[in-house]
Amino acid sequence: MSTFLKFPPNFLWGAAMSGPQSEGWLGKRHENIMDTWYRICRNDFYKGVGPDVASDFLHHFENDFRLMKEIGLNSFRTSIQWTRLIANLETGELDPNGIAFYQAMIRAAKANEIKLIFNLHHFDLPTDLLDRYAGWESRHVVDLFVKYAKTAFQLFKDEIHEWTTFNEPMVMIDGGYLYGYHYPHYKNEGKRAVQVLYHIVLANALVTQAYHQLDPEGKIGIIVNVTPAYPRSDRKEDQEAARFFDLFHWRSFLDASIHGHFPDELVEILRKDGVLWKAEAKDESLLSLNRSDFIGINYYHPTRVQATEGQIFEKWLPDQYYAHYDWPEKRVDPYKDWEIFPKALYDIAKEMTKRYPKTPWFVSETGMGVHDEGRFRNKDGVIEDLYRINFYKEHLFWLHKAIEEGASCFGFHTWAALDCWSWNNAYKNRYGFIEVDLNDQTRTIKKSGRWYRQVSLENGFEIEEDPFV
Ligand code: BG6
Repeated sequence: MSTFLKFPPNFLWGAAMSGPQSEGWLGKRHENIMDTWYRICRNDFYKGVGPDVASDFLHHFENDFRLMKEIGLNSFRTSIQWTRLIANLETGELDPNGIAFYQAMIRAAKANEIKLIFNLHHFDLPTDLLDRYAGWESRHVVDLFVKYAKTAFQLFKDEIHEWTTFNEPMVMIDGGYLYGYHYPHYKNEGKRAVQVLYHIVLANALVTQAYHQLDPEGKIGIIVNVTPAYPRSDRKEDQEAARFFDLFHWRSFLDASIHGHFPDELVEILRKDGVLWKAEAKDESLLSLNRSDFIGINYYHPTRVQATEGQIFEKWLPDQYYAHYDWPEKRVDPYKDWEIFPKALYDIAKEMTKRYPKTPWFVSETGMGVHDEGRFRNKDGVIEDLYRINFYKEHLFWLHKAIEEGASCFGFHTWAALDCWSWNNAYKNRYGFIEVDLNDQTRTIKKSGRWYRQVSLENGFEIEEDPFV
């Protein structure tokens, strides 16, 4: 017997991308840290391919929005680039070409009846601000970001009514300060990482407040990568390890932007360990007043953790509270080595309902990157990415179940609408509904894009009864 999984009315069926991963460099006034990383170390990137051209969204966006409509997207998130919109980072003076580009993008989205959500920051700190002020370690950078955000809100206030502040701030902390996999490649800098976390939370609060003052009807939120921790066992020590992992990696951001303060437990641990951030007296009230209207959750994979075995760390690191554990039963996406565990979406939804019952949220990214998709091309030239369709079906199954049980999830966005450039992997693993041929930038809709159109049109899809339980 089969069942039709119907989603709530006005559900967002969409996809995400980001400026730095799609637009290309042309016309930008400044480098961001990812651009710099590529300029100084091309070999870090698969086949030496960089963000200089990327998917050339800069020149193809009009056609790309038409294709997005064709695959049924009713909404689309991308990020505007600080480094394109602002000519002078200190004074906030605007770049007219940057304005013109984003206005043209807004017109193209509108012409195709696609709700456009603008994000302000997708890992793309201007390099000047890192070099001059140590980036997010500096409070001055918070002020400059607020200036940029206010300018953007003012510019686009008549057309854009949904904004997000940061995409996955924890990745900037993990990648840039703790484990070194992103530029500036600092490692084991726990105390500095905590300061960065604090400043991003503060910037989020200030920008949220500025937006609410400008447009009381509009909505603004933050996008957090949730990698929920599953403990190895019921042992108290393993449970505590999982609890700390969640506390540090994502509850820090969610509590601060929904409850208006960090979790007390986290503050106590950081204080006891001597790594608590530096704050100003007025900050407490700044944080407490400025709540996100909604949350975006990027979910790709869970985290399996266990208690540590008392390793000694020379410098403070969150890892002194948990160790990673390899779950023997895991199913893995071999191209990225990420565990595929769709039920986590149900668990996350339950957690959201329990901890933040009044805050609506959406899945702002999930997806599966696959290497060498040309293998799956059929005789008509279309990539038959059944693995991607199954991946989404499984995730949507669990999401639907959670919604039926009361979760206030209002949408599902995949990564990505088109194949995009990735940090390090460049175009090795493809994520899009729409294939991008890097030789000539032609676009071809994959089988998953046609499938998504149907899902969006019917606001759901049919499955064999509970095939994934
Ligand atoms: C998300 C990011 O974490 O994962 C995207 O928001 C990113 O920017 C996506 O591209 C997929 O990860 P990756 O590293 O394979 O590009």
